[in-house]
Amino acid sequence: MRVLVTGGTGFIGRAVCHALRGAGHTVTIVSRDASGEASGDTIGWEAVGQGAAAADAVVNLAGEPIAGGRWSPARKEAILESRVGATRALVDAVGLATTRPKVLISASAVGYYGARDDEPLDETAGAGSGFLAEVCQAWEGEASRAEAFGLRVVRLRFGMVLAGDGGALARMLPPFRAFVGGPLGDGQQWTSWIHRGDVTGLVLAALVNEGYRGAINATAPEPVRNRDFTAALGRVLVRPAAIRVPAMVLRLALGEMADVLLTGQRVLPRAAERLGYRWQYPEVLGALRASVR
Ligand SMILES: NC(=O)c1ccc[n+]([C@@H]2O[C@H](COP(=O)([O-])OP(=O)(O)OC[C@H]3O[C@@H](n4cnc5c(N)ncnc54)[C@H](OP(=O)(O)O)[C@@H]3O)[C@@H](O)[C@H]2O)c1
Repeated sequence: MRVLVTGGTGFIGRAVCHALRGAGHTVTIVSRDASGEASGDTIGWEAVGQGAAAADAVVNLAGEPIAGGRWSPARKEAILESRVGATRALVDAVGLATTRPKVLISASAVGYYGARDDEPLDETAGAGSGFLAEVCQAWEGEASRAEAFGLRVVRLRFGMVLAGDGGALARMLPPFRAFVGGPLGDGQQWTSWIHRGDVTGLVLAALVNEGYRGAINATAPEPVRNRDFTAALGRVLVRPAAIRVPAMVLRLALGEMADVLLTGQRVLPRAAERLGYRWQYPEVLGALRASVR
């Protein structure tokens, strides 16, 4: 298949593109920077229309980093607009194309469910409240518009994606390696995570399997509490994980963004289970071992 990928230069996108090529697909990346060596298979956003018309499938991963520091009003606008605006531009381009791709696989996040306590959340759970929940709803809403153009739309609600070379884990590794890692706040909040190898596995499956449609939680079957996640990371790194970061310190340092770290949601990947997806990394210890080796 010819696959158009937005955000293909990022932490998830690089691995997705590598896996797509490995499976024999042809990849074109849509990037804000289409210059340079990689431009043979990279186009700019101004050419997204031609890209969409030439593609059998689209994978949409673009978005300004969420965890890049305090959320000023300008950053919140960039976080929202880089997802909602980019997805709108992409879907508009698909709508105008004379030949259209068959499927759109579009990123979303478990932040869709907002801050929840112990309630298990499958894909039938309602949206939550708060900034990220609102971003995810608007983002998924733009992606779903592609259904009116005849595309099968898959909305992958990613949990925290684990791999050693980026994302949240790469930010956690230095303090843990320096013996100052530990739980965030009281450590009771749930972490719904997924190894990046299973993100690429789900994308490849969703590409060819017609059963994948609508919202799909892209998480491992066993979410864990933050205190258990940090204990597992300590075990894998052979370091103590006892230095708790007080909630107050995180709130002072990060403002509203601290909520992402201090609250969570216990997400269950019921749709992927029903579709028979087999996780390469179903348990957190194995996923962390594979990520930091
Ligand atoms: N990593 C996670 O744990 C996680 C969890 C839940 C959801 N997600 C979502 O999954 C998607 C991919 O995540 P990631 O970790 O791979 O992110 P990433 O490494 O930050 O990459 C995202 C890509 O989006 C593009 N981008 C960045 N800012 C943009 C902007 N202002 N306008 C348009 N495009 C922009 C960039 O591509 P160019 O520079 O080439 O344009 C970048 O390579 C994101 O939308 C993210 O919200 C990730």
